[in-house]
Amino acid sequence: MQSQLPTWLNQIKTTTDLPQLEALKAALLGKSGAVTQALKGLAQLPSIEEKKAKGAEINVIRDALIENFQSQTQILEAHAIKQKLNAEALDITLPFSSFTQNSSIGRIHPLTSLKEEIADFFQKRGFTFAEGPEVEDEWHNFDALNIPSHHPARQNHDTFFIQNHPTHLLRTHTSTVQIRSLATQKPPLRLISVGRVYRSDDLDATHTPMFHQIEGLVLDKNIHMGHLKGLIREFCSTLFGVADVPVRFRPSFFPFTEPSAEVDIACTRKDGKLVIGKGGDWLELLGCGMVHPNVLTNCDVDPLEYQGFAFGMGLERLCMIKNGIADIRQLYDGDETWLKHFGSFSF
Ligand code: DAH
Repeated sequence: MQSQLPTWLNQIKTTTDLPQLEALKAALLGKSGAVTQALKGLAQLPSIEEKKAKGAEINVIRDALIENFQSQTQILEAHAIKQKLNAEALDITLPFSSFTQNSSIGRIHPLTSLKEEIADFFQKRGFTFAEGPEVEDEWHNFDALNIPSHHPARQNHDTFFIQNHPTHLLRTHTSTVQIRSLATQKPPLRLISVGRVYRSDDLDATHTPMFHQIEGLVLDKNIHMGHLKGLIREFCSTLFGVADVPVRFRPSFFPFTEPSAEVDIACTRKDGKLVIGKGGDWLELLGCGMVHPNVLTNCDVDPLEYQGFAFGMGLERLCMIKNGIADIRQLYDGDETWLKHFGSFSF
């Protein structure tokens, strides 16, 4: 038996898979295996001494076999895992386009991606997000913003009032967030807010009773109009991807800013197409100005200590200009074909 050991060890070493190894193990160490049979054969030996000597020899052989079976099992298991991993390897070189074109996975709505793009611009410049309620009172929507009840601007806002609550309304602009924020935060601050506003307007190609506005507020010591102009110019360049885009600050009026301006961006209109960034025409983008001292006083901020600027713009309008969308209602139609064209896969 001793003489067979090298052959057996060699057989174990040269097995190439686990089932083969199991079969060999059964043939040697199993119930009717060679080693088990040899142990049973001990009973036939005539003397105790012989039994002892032979028994010890078989045990050494059995231990050597068990040890070699164990190590070969480990080798073959590792090999099997490696083979499985190789067989399951992903081919990541497959082009992405075939998947996107053929599938019907959703798209991100252009309003959502624009909102994210704008938020990203301002957040990178130290602005934090602020929010306010959509159901407001007259103080936050009008009075605190220097629009007293007799003021014509109050009538121009086409306000939706809440039934049986005459002092409550759906906010007509996000400038309310300036007042809401200043109730809990004090300057210096830089805030940006994006949200729904409501006006009892017509429903046509350029008006909907609900739309979104973006509001910005910057208050600090020694802030002046140059800061406002620099920020807005940079914003327009980034938004439309045109370096040094010509921007015009046109004097205007808002009750909550003094001086006030509307911002136009250079454009060309040719064959019904709008090209942003150059040409002799101008396109209105947003309203802005230096925060009126009355607004600051209404919020318990000393206008002699802190100054700042504010700006407001319509998200839908920017989205339409940027994407060449002619009718605002398309933004809310939920038309899948339209969304496939104007939607995107990432922000
Ligand atoms: N609230 C104005 C509107 O709805 C937009 C606006 C203009 C906001 C000038 C501002 C601003 O903060 O400074 O038409």
